[in-house]
Amino acid sequence: MDVSFVKTPEIQTLLDKAAGVGQSGGDPRLKAIVRELTEAVMEVVVHHDVSESEFWQAVTFLAEGAPEYGLLAAGTGIEHFLDLFMDAKDKEQGLSGGTPRTIEGPLYVEGAPLVEGNANLSVDPDEGAEVLHMTGLITGPQGEAVEDAIVHVWHANSKGWYSHFDPTSEQTPFNNRRRIKLGKDGRYAFHSMMPSGYSVPPGGTTDRLMQALGRHGNRPAHVHFFVEAPGYRTLTTQINFGDDPFAADDFAFGTREGLLPVPSHQGGSAYIAFDFQLQRAALKQDGEFSTRARAQVDAAPSKQTESA
Ligand code: BEZ
Ligand code: FE
Repeated sequence: MDVSFVKTPEIQTLLDKAAGVGQSGGDPRLKAIVRELTEAVMEVVVHHDVSESEFWQAVTFLAEGAPEYGLLAAGTGIEHFLDLFMDAKDKEQGLSGGTPRTIEGPLYVEGAPLVEGNANLSVDPDEGAEVLHMTGLITGPQGEAVEDAIVHVWHANSKGWYSHFDPTSEQTPFNNRRRIKLGKDGRYAFHSMMPSGYSVPPGGTTDRLMQALGRHGNRPAHVHFFVEAPGYRTLTTQINFGDDPFAADDFAFGTREGLLPVPSHQGGSAYIAFDFQLQRAALKQDGEFSTRARAQVDAAPSKQTESA
Protein backbone atom coordinates (compact mmCIF):
# COMPACT_ATOMS: atom_id res chain seq x y z
CA MET A 1 0.00 0.00 0.00
CA ASP A 2 1.18 3.49 -0.90
CA VAL A 3 1.69 6.20 1.76
CA SER A 4 -0.90 8.28 -0.12
CA PHE A 5 -3.38 6.17 1.87
CA VAL A 6 -2.74 8.65 4.71
CA LYS A 7 -4.04 11.46 2.46
CA THR A 8 -7.48 9.82 1.99
CA PRO A 9 -10.41 11.82 3.41
CA GLU A 10 -11.10 9.27 6.15
CA ILE A 11 -7.57 9.46 7.55
CA GLN A 12 -7.38 13.25 7.15
CA THR A 13 -10.66 13.59 9.10
CA LEU A 14 -9.28 11.30 11.80
CA LEU A 15 -6.13 13.47 12.02
CA ASP A 16 -8.21 16.64 12.36
CA LYS A 17 -10.31 15.13 15.13
CA ALA A 18 -7.32 13.64 16.92
CA ALA A 19 -5.45 16.96 16.94
CA GLY A 20 -8.55 18.86 18.07
CA VAL A 21 -8.68 20.86 14.82
CA GLY A 22 -12.09 22.52 14.73
CA GLN A 23 -12.49 22.35 18.53
CA SER A 24 -12.73 25.77 20.12
CA GLY A 25 -10.47 25.02 23.12
CA GLY A 26 -6.77 24.16 23.13
CA ASP A 27 -3.59 25.60 21.71
CA PRO A 28 -3.66 26.09 17.89
CA ARG A 29 0.14 25.79 17.50
CA LEU A 30 0.21 22.53 19.46
CA LYS A 31 -2.70 21.19 17.38
CA ALA A 32 -0.81 21.85 14.15
CA ILE A 33 2.37 20.17 15.45
CA VAL A 34 0.57 17.14 16.94
CA ARG A 35 -1.40 16.70 13.72
CA GLU A 36 1.73 16.66 11.60
CA LEU A 37 3.61 14.40 13.99
CA THR A 38 0.73 11.92 14.06
CA GLU A 39 0.49 11.98 10.27
CA ALA A 40 4.23 11.29 10.04
CA VAL A 41 3.88 8.25 12.34
CA MET A 42 1.03 6.97 10.16
CA GLU A 43 3.18 7.40 7.06
CA VAL A 44 5.98 5.39 8.67
CA VAL A 45 3.50 2.61 9.51
CA VAL A 46 2.32 2.46 5.89
CA HIS A 47 5.75 2.93 4.28
CA HIS A 48 7.25 0.03 6.25
CA ASP A 49 4.01 -1.99 6.35
CA VAL A 50 4.36 -2.15 10.14
CA SER A 51 2.29 -5.03 11.50
CA GLU A 52 0.00 -4.82 14.52
CA SER A 53 2.43 -6.98 16.50
CA GLU A 54 5.42 -4.81 15.56
CA PHE A 55 3.53 -1.64 16.45
CA TRP A 56 2.62 -2.93 19.93
CA GLN A 57 6.15 -4.21 20.48
CA ALA A 58 7.35 -0.63 19.90
CA VAL A 59 4.70 0.79 22.24
CA THR A 60 5.64 -1.71 24.96
CA PHE A 61 9.27 -0.65 24.60
CA LEU A 62 8.44 3.07 24.77
CA ALA A 63 6.10 2.50 27.72
CA GLU A 64 9.09 1.31 29.75
CA GLY A 65 10.08 4.98 29.76
CA ALA A 66 6.66 6.62 29.61
CA PRO A 67 3.85 4.44 30.97
CA GLU A 68 0.96 6.18 29.17
CA TYR A 69 2.26 5.46 25.68
CA GLY A 70 -0.56 2.93 25.13
CA LEU A 71 -3.16 5.55 26.01
CA LEU A 72 -1.45 8.12 23.81
CA ALA A 73 -1.58 5.68 20.89
CA ALA A 74 -5.34 5.45 21.42
CA GLY A 75 -5.94 9.16 22.00
CA THR A 76 -3.91 10.33 19.02
CA GLY A 77 -5.98 8.02 16.78
CA ILE A 78 -3.03 5.83 15.82
CA GLU A 79 -4.58 2.68 17.32
CA HIS A 80 -7.73 3.30 15.25
CA PHE A 81 -5.57 4.11 12.22
CA LEU A 82 -4.05 0.62 12.47
CA ASP A 83 -7.57 -0.82 12.09
CA LEU A 84 -8.25 1.36 9.04
CA PHE A 85 -4.88 0.36 7.57
CA MET A 86 -5.61 -3.35 8.09
CA ASP A 87 -9.09 -2.87 6.57
CA ALA A 88 -7.56 -1.21 3.51
CA LYS A 89 -4.98 -3.99 3.09
CA ASP A 90 -7.76 -6.59 3.41
CA LYS A 91 -9.74 -4.80 0.74
CA GLU A 92 -6.78 -4.87 -1.63
CA GLN A 93 -6.73 -8.65 -1.19
CA GLY A 94 -10.47 -8.98 -1.73
CA LEU A 95 -11.09 -9.69 1.94
CA SER A 96 -13.98 -7.73 3.34
CA GLY A 97 -17.29 -8.11 5.09
CA GLY A 98 -18.28 -9.32 8.49
CA THR A 99 -18.33 -7.52 11.81
CA PRO A 100 -15.88 -4.61 11.78
CA ARG A 101 -12.71 -4.94 13.80
CA THR A 102 -11.96 -2.25 16.33
CA ILE A 103 -9.32 -1.42 18.92
CA GLU A 104 -8.40 -3.93 21.62
CA GLY A 105 -7.30 -1.35 24.20
CA PRO A 106 -4.71 -2.17 26.86
CA LEU A 107 -6.86 -3.98 29.45
CA TYR A 108 -7.25 -7.60 28.29
CA VAL A 109 -5.96 -10.19 30.76
CA GLU A 110 -5.02 -13.69 29.64
CA GLY A 111 -6.39 -16.77 31.39
CA ALA A 112 -9.99 -15.77 32.19
CA PRO A 113 -12.23 -18.72 33.21
CA LEU A 114 -13.43 -20.83 30.29
CA VAL A 115 -17.16 -21.38 30.74
CA GLU A 116 -20.11 -22.82 28.83
CA GLY A 117 -23.81 -22.04 28.70
CA ASN A 118 -25.39 -18.75 29.71
CA ALA A 119 -22.32 -17.25 31.36
CA ASN A 120 -22.35 -14.96 34.37
CA LEU A 121 -19.36 -12.63 34.02
CA SER A 122 -19.78 -10.74 37.29
CA VAL A 123 -18.80 -12.36 40.55
CA ASP A 124 -18.74 -9.10 42.52
CA PRO A 125 -21.87 -7.19 43.53
CA ASP A 126 -22.18 -3.81 41.85
CA GLU A 127 -24.78 -1.83 43.72
CA GLY A 128 -27.18 0.21 41.62
CA ALA A 129 -25.97 -1.21 38.30
CA GLU A 130 -28.44 -2.70 35.82
CA VAL A 131 -27.97 -6.30 34.74
CA LEU A 132 -26.79 -6.51 31.14
CA HIS A 133 -28.07 -9.50 29.13
CA MET A 134 -26.35 -10.04 25.81
CA THR A 135 -27.23 -12.78 23.32
CA GLY A 136 -26.51 -13.58 19.70
CA LEU A 137 -25.13 -15.82 17.02
CA ILE A 138 -21.67 -16.22 15.50
CA THR A 139 -21.94 -16.75 11.76
CA GLY A 140 -19.55 -17.10 8.85
CA PRO A 141 -19.63 -15.25 5.51
CA GLN A 142 -22.57 -17.30 4.13
CA GLY A 143 -24.60 -16.89 7.33
CA GLU A 144 -23.62 -20.39 8.46
CA ALA A 145 -23.44 -21.00 12.22
CA VAL A 146 -19.79 -21.07 13.29
CA GLU A 147 -19.00 -24.21 15.28
CA ASP A 148 -16.84 -24.42 18.40
CA ALA A 149 -16.11 -20.72 18.74
CA ILE A 150 -14.61 -19.17 21.86
CA VAL A 151 -15.84 -15.68 22.74
CA HIS A 152 -13.48 -13.74 24.99
CA VAL A 153 -15.41 -10.96 26.69
CA TRP A 154 -14.24 -8.29 29.12
CA HIS A 155 -15.63 -5.03 30.42
CA ALA A 156 -15.44 -2.46 33.22
CA ASN A 157 -17.71 -2.32 36.28
CA SER A 158 -20.24 0.46 36.84
CA LYS A 159 -17.49 2.70 38.25
CA GLY A 160 -15.52 2.34 35.02
CA TRP A 161 -12.81 0.10 36.54
CA TYR A 162 -11.53 -3.18 35.08
CA SER A 163 -10.60 -6.09 37.35
CA HIS A 164 -6.78 -6.39 37.67
CA PHE A 165 -6.48 -2.65 36.91
CA ASP A 166 -8.76 -1.35 39.68
CA PRO A 167 -6.94 1.07 42.01
CA THR A 168 -9.57 0.43 44.73
CA SER A 169 -8.48 -3.27 44.76
CA GLU A 170 -12.12 -4.14 45.37
CA GLN A 171 -12.65 -6.52 42.48
CA THR A 172 -12.18 -10.26 42.50
CA PRO A 173 -9.68 -11.48 39.90
CA PHE A 174 -11.37 -11.94 36.51
CA ASN A 175 -14.54 -10.12 37.55
CA ASN A 176 -16.32 -9.19 34.29
CA ARG A 177 -13.96 -11.38 32.25
CA ARG A 178 -14.75 -14.76 30.74
CA ARG A 179 -13.96 -16.96 27.78
CA ILE A 180 -17.23 -18.54 26.64
CA LYS A 181 -16.95 -21.84 24.79
CA LEU A 182 -19.77 -22.21 22.27
CA GLY A 183 -21.23 -25.32 20.67
CA LYS A 184 -22.23 -26.31 17.16
CA ASP A 185 -25.08 -23.80 16.89
CA GLY A 186 -22.83 -20.72 17.29
CA ARG A 187 -25.12 -19.18 19.92
CA TYR A 188 -23.78 -17.26 22.90
CA ALA A 189 -25.43 -15.69 25.94
CA PHE A 190 -24.05 -13.92 28.98
CA HIS A 191 -25.18 -11.62 31.73
CA SER A 192 -23.17 -9.25 33.88
CA MET A 193 -23.38 -6.02 35.82
CA MET A 194 -23.69 -3.14 33.35
CA PRO A 195 -20.39 -1.31 32.70
CA SER A 196 -20.05 2.43 32.51
CA GLY A 197 -17.70 4.49 30.41
CA TYR A 198 -14.44 5.77 31.81
CA SER A 199 -11.76 8.34 31.30
CA VAL A 200 -7.98 8.34 31.10
CA PRO A 201 -6.35 9.03 34.48
CA PRO A 202 -7.27 12.63 35.41
CA GLY A 203 -4.22 14.89 35.36
CA GLY A 204 -2.08 12.21 33.66
CA THR A 205 -0.04 12.70 30.49
CA THR A 206 -2.85 11.72 28.11
CA ASP A 207 -5.44 13.83 29.91
CA ARG A 208 -3.13 16.84 29.78
CA LEU A 209 -2.49 16.36 26.07
CA MET A 210 -6.21 15.96 25.35
CA GLN A 211 -6.98 19.18 27.24
CA ALA A 212 -4.20 21.07 25.49
CA LEU A 213 -5.78 19.98 22.19
CA GLY A 214 -9.26 21.08 23.32
CA ARG A 215 -10.36 17.46 23.65
CA HIS A 216 -11.40 15.08 26.46
CA GLY A 217 -10.26 11.59 27.50
CA ASN A 218 -13.61 9.78 27.83
CA ARG A 219 -14.75 6.50 26.36
CA PRO A 220 -18.43 5.47 26.18
CA ALA A 221 -19.59 2.34 28.03
CA HIS A 222 -18.51 -0.67 25.97
CA VAL A 223 -17.83 -4.41 25.97
CA HIS A 224 -14.70 -5.91 24.39
CA PHE A 225 -14.55 -9.16 22.42
CA PHE A 226 -12.15 -11.53 20.75
CA VAL A 227 -14.02 -14.15 18.75
CA GLU A 228 -12.00 -17.16 17.61
CA ALA A 229 -13.10 -20.36 15.87
CA PRO A 230 -11.39 -23.10 13.86
CA GLY A 231 -11.17 -22.15 10.19
CA TYR A 232 -12.10 -18.51 10.78
CA ARG A 233 -10.20 -15.28 11.19
CA THR A 234 -9.92 -14.16 14.81
CA LEU A 235 -11.93 -10.97 15.30
CA THR A 236 -10.97 -8.20 17.74
CA THR A 237 -13.89 -5.90 18.34
CA GLN A 238 -16.14 -4.22 20.87
CA ILE A 239 -19.68 -2.92 21.10
CA ASN A 240 -20.26 0.57 22.39
CA PHE A 241 -23.62 1.46 23.90
CA GLY A 242 -25.48 3.62 21.40
CA ASP A 243 -27.28 5.54 24.17
CA ASP A 244 -24.09 6.63 25.97
CA PRO A 245 -23.37 10.40 25.87
CA PHE A 246 -19.90 9.67 24.46
CA ALA A 247 -21.12 7.11 21.87
CA ALA A 248 -20.26 9.45 18.99
CA ASP A 249 -17.32 11.12 20.72
CA ASP A 250 -14.96 8.37 21.91
CA PHE A 251 -11.50 9.74 22.76
CA ALA A 252 -9.96 6.49 21.41
CA PHE A 253 -12.01 6.43 18.15
CA GLY A 254 -13.08 2.85 18.93
CA THR A 255 -16.75 3.36 18.05
CA ARG A 256 -17.55 2.22 14.52
CA GLU A 257 -20.67 1.93 12.42
CA GLY A 258 -22.25 -1.46 13.04
CA LEU A 259 -20.87 -1.62 16.59
CA LEU A 260 -23.30 0.73 18.35
CA PRO A 261 -26.31 -1.27 19.57
CA VAL A 262 -28.78 0.59 21.77
CA PRO A 263 -29.76 -1.55 24.78
CA SER A 264 -33.41 -1.96 25.61
CA HIS A 265 -33.92 -1.17 29.30
CA GLN A 266 -36.62 -2.96 31.30
CA GLY A 267 -37.06 -3.28 35.04
CA GLY A 268 -33.42 -3.00 36.10
CA SER A 269 -32.06 -4.95 33.14
CA ALA A 270 -30.61 -3.93 29.79
CA TYR A 271 -30.88 -6.26 26.80
CA ILE A 272 -28.74 -6.39 23.68
CA ALA A 273 -29.05 -8.86 20.81
CA PHE A 274 -25.92 -8.74 18.68
CA ASP A 275 -24.63 -11.19 16.05
CA PHE A 276 -20.98 -11.44 15.01
CA GLN A 277 -19.99 -12.40 11.49
CA LEU A 278 -16.50 -13.82 10.99
CA GLN A 279 -14.41 -14.01 7.84
CA ARG A 280 -13.00 -17.35 6.76
CA ALA A 281 -9.29 -17.78 7.56
CA ALA A 282 -7.24 -17.44 4.39
CA LEU A 283 -3.78 -17.70 5.94
CA LYS A 284 -2.46 -19.76 8.86
CA GLN A 285 -1.90 -16.61 10.95
CA ASP A 286 -5.54 -15.52 10.49
CA GLY A 287 -6.55 -17.67 13.45
CA GLU A 288 -3.89 -16.13 15.65
CA PHE A 289 -3.87 -13.09 17.93
CA SER A 290 -1.41 -10.26 17.45
CA THR A 291 1.57 -10.71 19.75
CA ARG A 292 0.77 -7.49 21.65
CA ALA A 293 2.03 -7.80 25.25
CA ARG A 294 -0.99 -8.56 27.45
CA ALA A 295 -1.40 -8.78 31.20
CA GLN A 296 -0.91 -12.30 32.51
CA VAL A 297 -1.97 -13.60 35.88
CA ASP A 298 -2.39 -17.11 37.28
CA ALA A 299 -4.90 -18.96 35.14
CA ALA A 300 -8.35 -19.30 36.65
CA PRO A 301 -10.22 -22.63 36.89
CA SER A 302 -11.46 -23.81 33.50
CA LYS A 303 -14.69 -25.04 32.03
CA GLN A 304 -17.24 -24.38 34.70
CA THR A 305 -20.73 -24.70 33.29
CA GLU A 306 -22.72 -21.64 34.24
CA SER A 307 -26.38 -21.02 33.81
CA ALA A 308 -28.67 -18.07 34.29
C1 BEZ B 1 -10.22 0.32 26.55
O1 BEZ B 1 -11.23 0.24 25.90
O2 BEZ B 1 -10.10 -0.48 27.43
C2 BEZ B 1 -9.22 1.38 26.22
C3 BEZ B 1 -8.96 1.70 24.92
C4 BEZ B 1 -8.04 2.65 24.63
C5 BEZ B 1 -7.38 3.31 25.65
C6 BEZ B 1 -7.66 2.99 26.96
C7 BEZ B 1 -8.58 2.02 27.25
FE1 FE C 1 -12.31 -0.84 27.48
